[in-house]
Amino acid sequence: RVLIVDYGGQYTHLIARRIRELGVYSEIVFHRDAGSLDVEGYDAVILSGSHLSVRSLSRGDLEVAEKILFNGSKPLLGICFGHQLIGYLLGADVASGCGEYGRTRVSITGGDELFNGWSSEETVWMSHGECVENPPGSLRILAVSENRVIAAFKAVVNNRAVYGVQFHPEVHHTGKGRLLFDNFLRIAGARREWRVENYYRYLLDELRREVVDDGVAVVGVSGGIDSTVTALIGRKVFGEKLIPVFVDHGLLREGERESVVSSLEKLGLNPLVVDAGERFISRLEGVVDCEERRRVIGEEFAKIFAEIVEKEGARYFLQGTTYPDIIESGGIRGAASVIKSHHNVGGLPEWFRDRVKVLEPIRYLYKDEVREIARLLNVPWELVERHPYPGPGLAVRIIGSFTRKKLEICRKASRIVEDVLREHGFYGKVWQAFAVVGDDKWVGVKGDARSHGYIVTIRVVESVDGMTADYSRLPYDVLDEISRRITNSIPDVSMVTYAVTSKPPSTIEPC
Ligand code: XMP
Repeated sequence: RVLIVDYGGQYTHLIARRIRELGVYSEIVFHRDAGSLDVEGYDAVILSGSHLSVRSLSRGDLEVAEKILFNGSKPLLGICFGHQLIGYLLGADVASGCGEYGRTRVSITGGDELFNGWSSEETVWMSHGECVENPPGSLRILAVSENRVIAAFKAVVNNRAVYGVQFHPEVHHTGKGRLLFDNFLRIAGARREWRVENYYRYLLDELRREVVDDGVAVVGVSGGIDSTVTALIGRKVFGEKLIPVFVDHGLLREGERESVVSSLEKLGLNPLVVDAGERFISRLEGVVDCEERRRVIGEEFAKIFAEIVEKEGARYFLQGTTYPDIIESGGIRGAASVIKSHHNVGGLPEWFRDRVKVLEPIRYLYKDEVREIARLLNVPWELVERHPYPGPGLAVRIIGSFTRKKLEICRKASRIVEDVLREHGFYGKVWQAFAVVGDDKWVGVKGDARSHGYIVTIRVVESVDGMTADYSRLPYDVLDEISRRITNSIPDVSMVTYAVTSKPPSTIEPC
């Protein structure tokens, strides 16, 4: 096992993923909680990046890091901020004004096993404003950037290797990053035993432990892979005492309700369907701010589920929160800055949690790992390959004031995007594909008449886990077909645009 101490870096989750991909289980802990952990129980420790400056850390925060560095005996790797933190604690200066961003060339100067398989010059991904300077003699410099910034060092503390790397090996753009982690795990002697199927068995045992009586459980299902897998896991533990509930919040894609219910029925998860469109939409009308919409939707979901919990006398509530939901919503004790309050995490109010015990069996898994469990559980392919769909549905795809008209345009246009991609064999190759509607309009000519219609933006992205993404290089004829079908069949639209910005700097959903 590897412990990742999180200082709030946006890439912390990627470190955890890379380690798991190499067959070693990894856990993230907020740095302030790391002080009370038995760090010796792990094979190695990694200190993450951060938006913080080492020099702004409180005495208490520094003490936690000192304990890990000076009392621990397991190999330690600091990444970016973590690298600066280790350097600082070992007596180096941390200076500002030496930032490097994006692809950067580094020279590997000291032959060390951490860099086995690296050439003497490599490209890495940098994203830092400060750097390590004036290192003491105990730091051996292993790499220097093209800007003469210390890019990697090694020290020996308590007879074990302590490394710092200023760049981000967890990011794909650092081509040999995976190799660096592989080397680090070998140095740590970590056994490569992590497999999703082993974890699945562990997860069932964990859930059985959390269930202390034979009460009824309610699980919210959306037809998405996360909630479907959660419901199947729940079925294994609760048997017939599990009630799957599908809430139609009126923000679904066209035909979605019917297809989801029929797929779930095939899996033996006959859901109770709650027709709540009007309840949600009437509260959303006119709301401009997406975070406010998320709040409203989360609240309404909680009310509906509370009503069902009450009616069924349920003791447990299961939801399909995954690891990125927790991290991006700032769920690890506010470590990462909140990007979006994904409703899974942000929306369940305290009063709801007081009424039932909330269980989140897949909270430590990434989407692709959830998909692997789905395959293990024989979930039909059409559900496994379904694109992720945000809990607030089309509500996060409407920019500006929320109106019924924009909702209808968004629904129809999204259906067309998905249909065209399916017909051309692209659906299964992309992460998400949808339409976005804002307030901007474009003059059109339809027939001989001048019209004034909405601009619809198409977003099609490729991603491994939703944390970073790139727009899909779709062929022009596919884009052309999407555009023509939208403008031909939706009279209120006179322009279709294609979004060509990656994440970061954009996010996947528009708001
Ligand atoms: P962003 O837009 O943050 O999206 O780049 C990353 C992934 O998360 C999904 N997403 C959400 N899922 N509730 C959810 O359950 C939300 O409010 C929400 N917002 C974004 C998004 O679809 C993408 O897959």
